[in-house]
Amino acid sequence: MPYQDLRAFLTALKNAGELVDIDRPVALKYDVAKALAKASSMQGPALMFKQTGTDFPLVAGVYGNRRLALMAFEASEKTIHEKVLKAINNPIAPVDLKGKPPCQEVVLTGDAIDVTKLPVPIYSPKDGGPYITAGIVVSENPETGIPDIGNYRFQVHGPKELGVFSAPNHRFGKNMAHATQMGKQLHGALVIGVDPLTMYSCQVQSSDSTNDWFVAGGLRGSPVELAKAISNDMKVPALAEIVIEFTVDTNDQKVEGPLGEYTGYYTPASPKPVAKITAITHRTGAIFQGLLTGKPITENHVLKQIPFESSILRQLQAQFPTISDVSINSSGGVQVYVVIAMKPRYEGEARHAILAAMAGNLHPKWVIAVDPDIDIRNSAEVEWAQSFRVKPSEDVFIVDRTATAPLDPYTNGGYSSSVGIDATKPFGAEFPEVSEVPGWREFDLPEIAKQ
Ligand SMILES: Cc1cc2nc3c(=O)[nH]c(=O)nc-3n(C[C@H](O)[C@H](O)[C@H](O)COP(=O)(O)O)c2cc1C
Repeated sequence: MPYQDLRAFLTALKNAGELVDIDRPVALKYDVAKALAKASSMQGPALMFKQTGTDFPLVAGVYGNRRLALMAFEASEKTIHEKVLKAINNPIAPVDLKGKPPCQEVVLTGDAIDVTKLPVPIYSPKDGGPYITAGIVVSENPETGIPDIGNYRFQVHGPKELGVFSAPNHRFGKNMAHATQMGKQLHGALVIGVDPLTMYSCQVQSSDSTNDWFVAGGLRGSPVELAKAISNDMKVPALAEIVIEFTVDTNDQKVEGPLGEYTGYYTPASPKPVAKITAITHRTGAIFQGLLTGKPITENHVLKQIPFESSILRQLQAQFPTISDVSINSSGGVQVYVVIAMKPRYEGEARHAILAAMAGNLHPKWVIAVDPDIDIRNSAEVEWAQSFRVKPSEDVFIVDRTATAPLDPYTNGGYSSSVGIDATKPFGAEFPEVSEVPGWREFDLPEIAKQ
């Protein structure tokens, strides 16, 4: 059985020594972020801040490193991609929870709505204010009603208002634009504190016509339990800790930002849509969740990497079946630097695979194809392939005027260009044999093992 809710996962983390309580006051302004950055640099545990100066505890670092990610998926490095691919190929429909939904044990509407009562940290010194970074946005295509879930940042503007940013190529952004075209406001819900696989499912890349609750069910291996929101007809995860229901109108804007983002740079302040809160509901004793974003590697990168790699692998393999693996590096924000392992079946196939990856929704700036003998998660091996399996004038190419990753600080607002490097061995030609000491992995050397 998957972890049913955040609490079940926190109990498992605690039992494994992967969740540490902080029982002294830690300031929401910067100090929580400092603690998270420190724990992250040590590949450390998640942290539960018990004294936040509010009525709610704050847990963060739950997605702080790969070890915790593998725990969430109940998988190992060997099984992870197979497990995720199988899950994506076997979606499971959500169900309506019977009885009163835990996420609505406390219901706040009208004058009782005050989001500033939550322990929302300020992470980086130049951030425009406190940011809710660990939320899932539920929104629906205003025409078809197909639900989307995704992670989006929200700046706290005031008790009943949040600043919203969605890249135009992300579904929440598309739903907002669509509603505006139809002259409507969009309903949404910002959901905080869900089971880990529902959280990871937000990063699975799927088509705009996908009902994301099915993807989450597939990843969990059991249906997500949903409940009707209080102030609109949308469905929200019934076991969530906190749900902030809102409406958003893209014509109603306020300055949002800056925010230290996953590229490692601040995104500048600019006018962005305002979400008007229509209800806040939460569990009794609700736990608020924080999430560090900023220069790689943060929770943001850990959350994206496994779902991105599995879903891009699936998309590319449909056309290029000899692709055996895809690595989307954290150093490139889990976006702009993609390495593909493949055995080309004909001359030029590697280049076509590179072009297909460039055309995907990640908008990568660098795509490198290597042979399957290269460990694509070891940058030294990839650099070795680029050093000795590439003739730059033949194997490196630039595609001009490609769509930019919207938050890339160097290409923001304009076209980008993308570099393809075919570092596979020349097709059909003799190539020198790799010289490596055979059998060293199995060689018994107790003198070193003892040290
Ligand atoms: C923690 C976190 C925060 C994110 N915040 C935003 C955001 O504020 N705006 C945005 O456009 N994408 C954001 N993303 C990226 C999108 O959630 C992600 O690319 C998602 O796959 C897009 O959804 P879609 O595939 O439904 O279009 C964030 C990702 C993570 C992991």
